[in-house]
Amino acid sequence: MPGHEPWDAARAAGIIAEHAQLEGATLPILHALQERFGYVDQGAVALIADALNLSKAEVHGCITFYHDFRAEPAGRRVVKLCRAEACQAVGADALHAEILGRYGVGWHGTTADGAVTIEPVFCLGLCACGPAALVDGAPVARLDAEGLAAALTEEAA
Ligand code: FES
Repeated sequence: MPGHEPWDAARAAGIIAEHAQLEGATLPILHALQERFGYVDQGAVALIADALNLSKAEVHGCITFYHDFRAEPAGRRVVKLCRAEACQAVGADALHAEILGRYGVGWHGTTADGAVTIEPVFCLGLCACGPAALVDGAPVARLDAEGLAAALTEEAA
């Protein structure tokens, strides 16, 4: 993704130190690392555990519990498809199967060329005009497979 730096343990340690004194520092640290690097590298687990006096298992458990945290870099474009009830009611499940098949990925998957990552999300507040999605954070209403393809051919923001 544009704007992300390559993983760097020293820079990660700096980010962790900046947040370590916060109440419940684990989540702010994980968000900050993902914002900087685009994902939470496996190498961050020991750094966070040491800084916060937690076990590696506790840190790992936090990363895996929250599905927004990525264990590896995302594709250049990130699509989040709404799987919640209102979108389901207007055919989102079938649409998602079509989209996942078209791009050859499962949920949280990235296309082989690294172009697109597709992730689930649960309600974007666009319930009246579903199926809804985010493409690189921009909302897309009344999504269909052709509309997604068109959105992905647009220049990344
Ligand atoms: S249920 Fe999909 S946007 Fe609310």
